Amino acid sequence: MSGQQAASLEKIFAANFKDYKKKLRKGGKILEVGCGYGYTLKGWAEKYKNIEIIGLDIDDNAIKYAIELVKNSQWKDRIQIVKSTIHEFAQEYPQEFDLILLNQVLHEIEGNDSTRKAILDNLYIILKDDGKVIVGESMIPSVFTQRKKFLFYEIVHKWFEILFGSRFYDEDQFREFISTTSFKNVDMFKRGTDYVWILQK
Ligand SMILES: C[S@@+](CC[C@H](N)C(=O)[O-])C[C@H]1O[C@@H](n2cnc3c(N)ncnc32)[C@H](O)[C@@H]1O
Repeated sequence: MSGQQAASLEKIFAANFKDYKKKLRKGGKILEVGCGYGYTLKGWAEKYKNIEIIGLDIDDNAIKYAIELVKNSQWKDRIQIVKSTIHEFAQEYPQEFDLILLNQVLHEIEGNDSTRKAILDNLYIILKDDGKVIVGESMIPSVFTQRKKFLFYEIVHKWFEILFGSRFYDEDQFREFISTTSFKNVDMFKRGTDYVWILQK
């Protein structure tokens, strides 16, 4: 996951939700689901100096690394790293978060569309009424898109699907998938093959 991808998430959010960005500058709570090594939450902690952040992951290595990153930072008092499934976590924090980040995580979640839907429905529960979920995902081109040749990243995605059971969506498939979840308000922003989806209640 590149720092550039993570930064573009914040830039797109800040440019399109100016009032909400102002509100977050004053304070609030962010959850990053699948925080990995913590690079994305680091960027948000540096930009939004009054917010509290919880980073959640299920991978021991990621958790260890993220805790170390936070421990050695200036913003350690505002960040907590938690090992938990989103299902367990959601029982404890109803309507708690102003913003939830899900960056390059959905395609890695083991299971099928129902598993991914259940995760988004849990996020719906812990999101405040005016809160936003930001989903960063690489999308594959639709099978109906006319192309002269296959692009490198399409081949890489295919390998990930075969080797690791990853699931990549094209834009229409992803819209359709979101429509099955509790979220009814969806905005989409596109940068090359990187897509940022902002979901609201
Ligand atoms: C590609 S990394 C993304 C890291 C981070 N979001 C970033 O922007 O740098 C995907 C992360 O999702 C985590 N993950 C996968 N399935 C998960 C699940 N069901 N719940 C929480 N985290 C999960 C993985 O352990 C991994 O750390």
